[in-house]
Amino acid sequence: MPADFPKRAVILDTQELTRRFDKFTAVDSVNISVEAGEVFGLLGPNGAGKSTVIKMLTTLLPPTTGKATIAGYDVTHQQGAVRKVIGYVPQALSADGSLTGYENLLIFAKLYDIPSK
Ligand SMILES: Nc1ncnc2c1ncn2[C@@H]1O[C@H](COP(=O)(O)OP(=O)(O)OP(=O)(O)O)[C@@H](O)[C@H]1O
Ligand SMILES: [Mg+2]
Repeated sequence: MPADFPKRAVILDTQELTRRFDKFTAVDSVNISVEAGEVFGLLGPNGAGKSTVIKMLTTLLPPTTGKATIAGYDVTHQQGAVRKVIGYVPQALSADGSLTGYENLLIFAKLYDIPSK
């Protein structure tokens, strides 16, 4: 999060977050509020819409209606800023097996603008 972001502030906020695929509503008016430092679990049965919510929060899929902010940045209008303040650990292994461990770290460091020092 940005250095000047206040502690105990809402780090993740969604308001009526909704995603439709044609006429099918996969995510229906979700309101989530998570404070900085809080651990939040998003649970639901298969097909409940969890992955669709995560895709919207990580800027990979635009919401149909509603709004979400992370550290105050809007996932629809400030995608670059959102991507800079989030981390995502996928379920499946995402390291490149053809690279060494060091090379895997190096490529992510370059992608995330981490200073060479
Ligand atoms: N691109 C898409 N096009 C059409 N329907 C979709 C699309 N993505 C997801 N859906 C539908 O939206 C609903 C929610 O899917 P989603 O993958 O978000 O659920 P989930 O909670 O992550 O499920 P699981 O626990 O199985 O991972 C499902 O009915 C799914 O078939
Ligand atoms: Mg899923």
